[in-house]
Amino acid sequence: MSSEPFNNVYLLPQTNQLIGLYTIIRDKNTTRPNFIFYADRIIRLLVEEGLNHLPVQDLTIETDTAEKYEGCSFMGKICGVSIVRAGESMEQGLRDCCRSVRIGKILIQRDEETAQPKLFYEKLPEDIANRYVFLLDPMLATGGSAMMATDVLIKRGVKPERIYFLNLICSKEGIDNYRAQFPDVKIVTGAIDKGLDKNKYLVPGLGDFGDRYYCI
Ligand code: URA
Repeated sequence: MSSEPFNNVYLLPQTNQLIGLYTIIRDKNTTRPNFIFYADRIIRLLVEEGLNHLPVQDLTIETDTAEKYEGCSFMGKICGVSIVRAGESMEQGLRDCCRSVRIGKILIQRDEETAQPKLFYEKLPEDIANRYVFLLDPMLATGGSAMMATDVLIKRGVKPERIYFLNLICSKEGIDNYRAQFPDVKIVTGAIDKGLDKNKYLVPGLGDFGDRYYCI
């Protein structure tokens, strides 16, 4: 797993299978059902990769053959926090891997007066400070919303090194902005795009993720 040239950035292996999935979801002619199906497959890979980085402890168990198996078990509890609305698309992928996982929500929208991101709503597990947190947002463009959401988590007592920010596509600029503020948060992503257009959309990107996932 490459974490270079960005420390604490875990880029999924760029296999033909993964590139094939991105080719489908980036294609402007892909239908909504196919977009959802293939985005969900990538989300599942991101969740699995995030889980790979959680700390474990040794655990030896006995199998049904009366033999010992020297394995491990996860240490600590996790939860998800989605940035509404696009981040909600990643909740099921997390639930598929972690049964009964607690999931909080943060709503950040552009303030029409200042044009800056503004926090409108947060609902988080009350014991979030004791959990590893998978922060869910599919696109890291400028990083404005993700940084505000991460601030909310840290103010609630979550240690930055316990936060895993999962997204499908990042821009280099977004990674730089985000890491300048939160060098200890781990970013798990499947693609690093070359930049942003004048509307702050990722390029080549895929357009508006929330619209493509939720709208007909
Ligand atoms: N959000 C999106 O949905 N797409 C982008 O390209 C950037 C942010």
